[in-house]
Amino acid sequence: QPFLAPALFFPPPAAFLSRSPAGTYRGTGSAASHVVVSLVRNYPNYLIINLDKLDYCASLKNLETVSEKENYKFIQGDICEPHFIKQLFETEKIDIVLHFAAQTHVDLSFWHALEFTYVNVYGTNVLVAAAHEANVEKFVYVSTDEVYGGSTDQEFDESSPKCPTNPYASSKAAAECFVQSYWERYQFPVVITRSSNVYGPHQYPEKVNNLSSVYPINERSLIVFLVCFIFHRPTNDLRYPMNSEKMHSLGWRPKVPWKEGIKKTIEWYKENFHNWKNAEKALEPFPVTEPFAQLNVP
Ligand SMILES: NC(=O)c1ccc[n+]([C@@H]2O[C@H](COP(=O)([O-])OP(=O)(O)OC[C@H]3O[C@@H](n4cnc5c(N)ncnc54)[C@H](O)[C@@H]3O)[C@@H](O)[C@H]2O)c1
Repeated sequence: QPFLAPALFFPPPAAFLSRSPAGTYRGTGSAASHVVVSLVRNYPNYLIINLDKLDYCASLKNLETVSEKENYKFIQGDICEPHFIKQLFETEKIDIVLHFAAQTHVDLSFWHALEFTYVNVYGTNVLVAAAHEANVEKFVYVSTDEVYGGSTDQEFDESSPKCPTNPYASSKAAAECFVQSYWERYQFPVVITRSSNVYGPHQYPEKVNNLSSVYPINERSLIVFLVCFIFHRPTNDLRYPMNSEKMHSLGWRPKVPWKEGIKKTIEWYKENFHNWKNAEKALEPFPVTEPFAQLNVP
């Protein structure tokens, strides 16, 4: 059975992992960058290949601490290009794929739904098809708890029905179906994770739900701005109450308490706000940025 579990990830990119000489991850985005750094450090016998398009939200600064390591390789590329992806699987011996790459900003997804569908659904299909053809050992698709839609009282677990309420979550839910179909049809070993939202360093500021007011930063203004910011969205899920019993029964505990974590996060953004080009643009409630210019959808 594919394993569907809530999981925790931190922000940045996409990655592939290959064993010596290579493994592949995709990860320059916020969540994947933390995973890539940890893998490069802890698995010196694996080559960690980080494939990323370097979209507006990506920052190679997130990977500076490992960029010179022998077991790390960065490749700039687009998961929506089937020939390039096929060639990549042919030239690198890839054992495991961790698929983080996506368009991820919910607000933008209302205005650029087609781009979200294209990258998140079509791109995922390209990747899972190529991985299957290349006989990789495992394909991990990083999805989101947002596929459940919101709830104020009912808890969600992996058996809850998907009921997405915005184009981002819908595209992630649709992509899950494609990934799962490779298990159903071929018993291709796929894993789907539905992480809750994460906070912490490395995220493009649009998701830090607007640090602009925090930009002479303090915690109260962060919370106040959170309330104002989400008010602008066409629809909003109030909560994603995830059942975390299984995770806790495995011994998982948060290592950093919220109060300490949010303080460290704010400090990090004070120091690193300009790690991205045009970071200020991310602070507009509906940032209108060039990166989302219309794509030529095939
Ligand atoms: N951040 C969260 O709180 C959170 C929560 C749940 C799930 N997730 C999932 O985790 C993954 C990573 O999220 P994130 O917040 O780090 O996102 P992010 O937007 O910070 O990073 C996404 C990365 O994907 C890359 N990318 C975009 N389109 C691409 C393409 N066509 N080809 C190659 N690379 C491409 C971007 O350059 C960027 O580096 C996403 O799949 C997201 O749905 C994130």
